[in-house]
Amino acid sequence: MFSIHRDPKYYPNPEKFDPERFSDENKDLINPSTYIPFGQGPRNCIGSRFALMESKAIMFYMLSAFRIEMSPKTQNPIKFMKGTLNLKAEKGFWVNLQPL
Ligand code: HEM
Repeated sequence: MFSIHRDPKYYPNPEKFDPERFSDENKDLINPSTYIPFGQGPRNCIGSRFALMESKAIMFYMLSAFRIEMSPKTQNPIKFMKGTLNLKAEKGFWVNLQPL
């Protein structure tokens, strides 16, 4: 899935953080078979709706209480750890949380 989602054939400039790819105007340009964060078919993720809801709730409460900034320990550009099943940052995920 990682490789498909980072393939420039399907996602131009794939490393760019570009939420506009998923805007109402652009989302029809995405081939649904190349967007499979929760898998597809009869064994797809049973928790996808819950996962989306909890991610949005976390983002809402974090962003309403803190400004998230890079710290001197933030790895930028991020590199991913090799040899793990789950996607992890090589040097961990470090940010500063500034209370609003
Ligand atoms: C962002 C969070 C999550 C992601 C990206 C994710 C992704 C996935 C993916 C890719 C699969 C495999 C689908 C396939 O084989 O086609 C899967 C399966 C599954 N996920 Fe998730 N998942 C997430 C969160 C959750 C949560 C919160 C739960 C439970 C509360 C959950 C429960 C399951 C279960 C039970 C399966 C196996 C379904 C089956 O084999 O029939 N997942 N998930």
